Amino acid sequence: MKILITGGAGFIGSHVVRLFTNKYPQYSICNLDKLTYAGNLENLKDVERKPNYQFFKGDIVDANFISQLFEQEKFDAVIHLAAESHVDRSISNPLEFVNTNVIGTVNLLNAAKQTWATGTPNPASGFRHLFYHVSTDEVYGTLGDTGMFTEETPYDPHSPYSASKAASDHFVRAYHDTYKLPVVISNCSNNYGPNHFPEKLIPLCIHNIKSNKPLPIYGKGENVRDWLYVEDHASAIDVIFHTATLGSTYNIGGHNEWKNIDVIRLLCKIMDSKLGRPEGTSEQLITFVKDRAGHDLRYAIDSTKLQRELSWQPSLQFEEGLAKTVDWYLANENWLNNVTSGDYKKYYEEQYAKR
Ligand code: NAD
Ligand code: TYD
Repeated sequence: MKILITGGAGFIGSHVVRLFTNKYPQYSICNLDKLTYAGNLENLKDVERKPNYQFFKGDIVDANFISQLFEQEKFDAVIHLAAESHVDRSISNPLEFVNTNVIGTVNLLNAAKQTWATGTPNPASGFRHLFYHVSTDEVYGTLGDTGMFTEETPYDPHSPYSASKAASDHFVRAYHDTYKLPVVISNCSNNYGPNHFPEKLIPLCIHNIKSNKPLPIYGKGENVRDWLYVEDHASAIDVIFHTATLGSTYNIGGHNEWKNIDVIRLLCKIMDSKLGRPEGTSEQLITFVKDRAGHDLRYAIDSTKLQRELSWQPSLQFEEGLAKTVDWYLANENWLNNVTSGDYKKYYEEQYAKR
């Protein structure tokens, strides 16, 4: 089976590429990524020479490129992660999010529809065509003090990011209903873990604690997010990819709600201990700053359906996952320095441009 993974050089995509490349040597894994600021091939150093892995640099917004790529490579299945993913960037540049997240997704849907109209999957080999769209719990909007998002919660996005992801989810479902395209969607809660770009809350604060810089907490830090270790998201994608019913949707999350301020206090405590600083040192860096516009108060995801129907379980408790994440960032100083200095872009140029 030849699987196209889009956005495989990003945070979650790189973990999905690694899992599939290592676990399924019989599959051919093709990673398509534009290498925006968020795409970093250093994330995939350990798999880039594997015989079942290939990288394609390209833009999902370029419809001609996408349709030619599908015609040439005849992918059997797609796992679509490429997106603009940062809420704050969507507030300053919404159109970029419409282009990548909506138009880019529709280009991929069109190419899959075109390619699979003529090919017949072989059920005997357990093989099926599948367009797997990776989405977010942010499409459901915001919660008050109680309740959780289920797969039936009506969409109510508030940021340009979540609005663009909601639109892409609607297109994926529309292609299933209208053209019988074989699709699956999952909506996951906030991820954390290695290779997370240091513009998002947890890696930004790890970087700032290390460098003794202020930790910017929006508003009063009372917003609640439901955190899942990135490898647990990848394992859920694996299970859903292989066993979900076509046309279905699954919520992914670890029942792990934390107020932002409590996440950062715990992070400060872990880092004080790992850096040999007296407890309480890093907390002094916490700085309350102007709130994000339209800041969703609380996300909490009910992933009972996934746990019950497909027997998926998260593997790590938050305290354990956060300590593991800190260990990774401390052991991979070069990765963080390259990302913060911009040098990570040279990796692609050196590794691929000369080929
Ligand atoms: P990311 O920003 O780290 O990575 C996105 C990747 O997509 C990058 O490698 C980037 O180069 C690539 N990309 C962007 N525009 C592209 C284009 N036009 N053509 C080709 N490639 C392009 O994002 P992430 O956090 O890894 O998120 C991956 C997916 O998971 C997204 O669809 C996101 O909405 C979804 N998601 C993320 C989270 C989270 O907590 N980060 C939670 C749930 C769902
Ligand atoms: P973020 O990591 O950007 O993810 P998302 O917006 O997709 O949930 O933000 C997580 C939470 O942390 C969110 O409530 C916004 C808040 N936040 C801060 O308080 N300070 C920051 O510098 C950032 C980037 C986020």
